[in-house]
Amino acid sequence: MKVLVIGGGGREHALCWSLARAPEVDEVVCAPGNAGIARLARCAHVKPEDPSAVRALAEREAADLVVVGPEGPLVAGVADALREAGITVFGPSAAAARLEGSKAFAKDVLHQAGVPTGAHWTGTDPDAAKEALEGFAPPYVVKADGLAAGKGVTVCDTRAEAHAAIDEALLARAFGEAGARVVLEEHLAGPELSVFAISDGKRVALLAPAQDHKRVGEGDTGPNTGGMGAYSPVPIADDALLERVRREALQPTIEAMAARGTPYQGVLYAGLVLTREGPKVLEYNCRFGDPEAQVILPRLAGSLAATLRSAARGRLSQTRLPTTDAAAVTVVLAAAGYPGRYEKGARIRGLESLAAREDVLVFHAGTVKREGQLLADGGRILAVTGLGADLSAARDAAYDAVDRIHVEGAFCRRDIAAQAIEGPGRAD
Ligand code: GLY
Repeated sequence: MKVLVIGGGGREHALCWSLARAPEVDEVVCAPGNAGIARLARCAHVKPEDPSAVRALAEREAADLVVVGPEGPLVAGVADALREAGITVFGPSAAAARLEGSKAFAKDVLHQAGVPTGAHWTGTDPDAAKEALEGFAPPYVVKADGLAAGKGVTVCDTRAEAHAAIDEALLARAFGEAGARVVLEEHLAGPELSVFAISDGKRVALLAPAQDHKRVGEGDTGPNTGGMGAYSPVPIADDALLERVRREALQPTIEAMAARGTPYQGVLYAGLVLTREGPKVLEYNCRFGDPEAQVILPRLAGSLAATLRSAARGRLSQTRLPTTDAAAVTVVLAAAGYPGRYEKGARIRGLESLAAREDVLVFHAGTVKREGQLLADGGRILAVTGLGADLSAARDAAYDAVDRIHVEGAFCRRDIAAQAIEGPGRAD
């Protein structure tokens, strides 16, 4: 089969890598891809968020399966355009992707489905929001309703700070239209956990759990990023806990989405807090995490292509996808300045020495090839995944590989997976 992957980051490199290994797959095409993806897939210069351009590409390529990586194209209706054309696509419709695209919508669905989650208030009027804040205890959580590139969440210790956050979103429109509505949310205390599942619209099949590190600095300090590293397995996520999350959160959510007439088919990525009363859903995402995909997919034991095709056809048969015993740790190499302003164009050296390593996979996140040279082309440049018998061995492999790569000015966190390996508790 021929598979078309939409997107061009580290997650899509991991998707292309995993799909290309499947025995059923003859060819992988990726739009737009990047310099790393181009080594195993043909790259097409099409804008991922343009539904008609993606549909035209899928028709031209006669793709048997289209896999949409990032949330932007899903929220923009790329999966709908493909489905209307009769093309098999893995990824939710725009209506279903609102689970990530609108926090207020996600809260409605969670309440309808009886899924444990924090109390919330939603609205567009700053005075009403400030009045509603009185019903919450500190720390106050103020969220922009829409997609705000990971920047729309403010956690405030005082009412004055929360009022400022409300005004910033609703009056100053700091997050544009994404902040035209805000969600005030009960702060949930406890360790966080991400759980990933594949859904065919009726059922869910759990993937291996993974945990990322969102803050830019060691010890979970500094601003939030897209993710500076990730690891899998996650010691706190045992089988009983995962099954509880499947039964109490993921499956009821899928059933509620179907009952609303917007069946959810794709990756359901739940951000949870393990509170004293049990796991509660903090948020949903409608895609694989990045860089979580770079540790989950190398651990997948079966064929990703067969699983995604079954889900896209509404025929998923498992509740748990088989996973290898190997552990995986990925370390993101980022450009100086990320997640703020950063320069592109630094030369990337040292990857050749890693190509033969069976315990290392280098996924390109933001790279380009110009005049025969591999150059940095994004804030996150590479996600370097180490594999090993346990998290400690996987981490050693990842950092050993990172130390052989040279990109002027680039940096990484040195404590990826450290808390999971060295002590109780967790990263973010
Ligand atoms: N790593 C966090 C995310 O993909 O949203």
